[in-house]
Amino acid sequence: MILNSLELLGFRSYHSASCSFDPGINIIAGINAQGKTNLLEGVYYLSGARSFRTRTDRELIRLEEDEAAIRGAIVSGGREQLIDIYLSRRERKKIFLNGVKQKNASALSGRFCCVLFSPEDLELVRGGPAERRKYMDLAISQLRPQYAQTLGEFQKVYGEKARILKDWRERPDLLEVLDDYSLSLARLGAVLIRYRAAWCRRAGEAAERLHGEISGRDEKLRVGYTTVSSIEDPLDLTPAQLLETLLLHQEKHRQAELDSGLCLSGAHKDDLKLEIGGLPAGKYASQGQARTAALALKLAEWELARSDLGESPVLLLDDVLSELDGLRQDYVLNSIGGGQVLITCCASEEVRRKTGGKLIYVEGGKLRECTST
Ligand SMILES: Nc1ncnc2c1ncn2[C@@H]1O[C@H](COP(=O)(O)OP(=O)(O)OP(=O)(O)O)[C@@H](O)[C@H]1O
Ligand SMILES: [Mg+2]
Repeated sequence: MILNSLELLGFRSYHSASCSFDPGINIIAGINAQGKTNLLEGVYYLSGARSFRTRTDRELIRLEEDEAAIRGAIVSGGREQLIDIYLSRRERKKIFLNGVKQKNASALSGRFCCVLFSPEDLELVRGGPAERRKYMDLAISQLRPQYAQTLGEFQKVYGEKARILKDWRERPDLLEVLDDYSLSLARLGAVLIRYRAAWCRRAGEAAERLHGEISGRDEKLRVGYTTVSSIEDPLDLTPAQLLETLLLHQEKHRQAELDSGLCLSGAHKDDLKLEIGGLPAGKYASQGQARTAALALKLAEWELARSDLGESPVLLLDDVLSELDGLRQDYVLNSIGGGQVLITCCASEEVRRKTGGKLIYVEGGKLRECTST
């Protein structure tokens, strides 16, 4: 997938700006607060009409304006296509694909995919299990529509079961349906766990290799998938055995769930275990180590998506170089071939010398393309 050009009208700090991109590396350069991340956010928005920074579209509209438009000319599935998204303070957003109005954002899925690395991704290493589940869920959903659907159903059933456990003392009649919800949760959970285990095995191997290459030392990253404690490796079990084990685990926790009013057993507590040099990464990793590990996970996601989709998603790297030493920076810059990349940074000349990429300057909400010399 290639983004040929982008136009931003009334989007974030941009009044009206447009630029075209190279199919290879593009360096988005500028000093702080000029609109580099806003530009990546605009590109990312084309992939699913969602921002990675905010849930409210209103924030995306330039402060003194009422409407915004994002237009991207892309190449996907070997065809040139046009995505237009209009945002308004008064109306619902409108999405057009090749000039035809679409019912909702799901029309965009699979058309234009991005993998984003931003400074917030440090939370993948430093944050709680929810961050790592979100990473797995987003990555697998992009590749497997069946997973996205099962995840949606799982979250609905989980919400219902959590509500029953919270309210059963006031409404004991709710207990009549508790076991039905537990069974559904285990059935849907078993599907998610198989997908996650298979994806994590591949992504984990890729991330460990990429991490070794970036860090260039023998501080090894280890990535492991963890689910309910009675399941060691879900891929060693048949689907029937997996479901049986989940049901047994759930049954053992039934009383504790009623006592605590919380849903204690199931795939909603899954996690990725990360170790660097044998130590838990969340607690012990240095800033640079945490960033390297997070980046390795994201590059692994990119690699898997590339091989499964048969097309390379656009890689968006926001502020990836800060906190990495020179060697790690060099490796990152050398290793991002094989697809289109948009990378933001402040020290642009050096990056350009090392990558030969196209340089786009951002200054005060204006974009200036520099043609290669
Ligand atoms: N809806 C909006 N309307 C107007 N300005 C906005 C809006 N949203 C964000 N901005 C402004 O956009 C500016 C640039 O933000 P952005 O995050 O893109 O900077 P940046 O170039 O990535 O900077 P840094 O190098 O510090 O990461 C911010 O100063 C912010 O105030
Ligand atoms: Mg920024």
